[in-house]
Amino acid sequence: MTIGTTIHSFSTCPSTNDLAKRLAREGSAEGTVVLAEEQTEGRGTKGRSWHSPRGQGLYASIILRPLRADLSLLPLAAGVACLEAIREATGLEAALEWPNDIVWKHRKLGGILCEGEFLGSAVSFAVLGIGLNIGQIRDDFPAALRRTATSLRLALGREVDRAAVETALWPVLDRWYTTWVRGRKEEIVRTYESRLVIPAGADVEVRREEGTLRGVYRGIDLRARLKLEKDGKEILLSPAEILAIDYN
Ligand code: BTN
Repeated sequence: MTIGTTIHSFSTCPSTNDLAKRLAREGSAEGTVVLAEEQTEGRGTKGRSWHSPRGQGLYASIILRPLRADLSLLPLAAGVACLEAIREATGLEAALEWPNDIVWKHRKLGGILCEGEFLGSAVSFAVLGIGLNIGQIRDDFPAALRRTATSLRLALGREVDRAAVETALWPVLDRWYTTWVRGRKEEIVRTYESRLVIPAGADVEVRREEGTLRGVYRGIDLRARLKLEKDGKEILLSPAEILAIDYN
């Protein structure tokens, strides 16, 4: 399997993830990429929307047909791949925020939305959705995002060729997907931790539906959970239960 051997490019669509799911249900091969110039209903994690203006971002979804059912480390491997592709295409050293944010100076550059479709306990397919802000300037972002979002153009102070980022992305994504398929979890987690913005041993405040939790950050486990030490005990927090994280 090679990611990017088949690429379907659309001028517009509601969400490349939804389109990729439809193509996967219709039998499209593993590694097929769905790209769009704009999304009218781009989706983020936790039911949020993903601002997807025409021509200003990379909106891609990749169809995967993994044999393993535990997808938890897949978006983390994809995050590492995105950083490598950004570095290769532009020289920028972006970073990661747990679980799936790509950031530059604490502002969000991109994100990953990994969705699996299951048949019983087996995965029929997974769709790895990647959104990267490429060409936006400050006023291109809606007011609500202006203080928290950034783009490669803003980070680098120059225009960025989206095609160069895409070209760099498929092979590194393929390599990290293969690492994941082969079950090399330690390699994924160690690389991921090394690119996380939270320093080991930082005091962390985690906001959840059930209330705020404070503790010391102790790394990421092999199921993508955040390890927090509190009162001498280890607490494992899964991405789904976290609303926001602050640290110092
Ligand atoms: C996040 O909330 O950080 C994840 C954002 C993921 C956005 C991408 S853009 C391509 C794909 N299609 C979608 O509707 N969402 C993902």
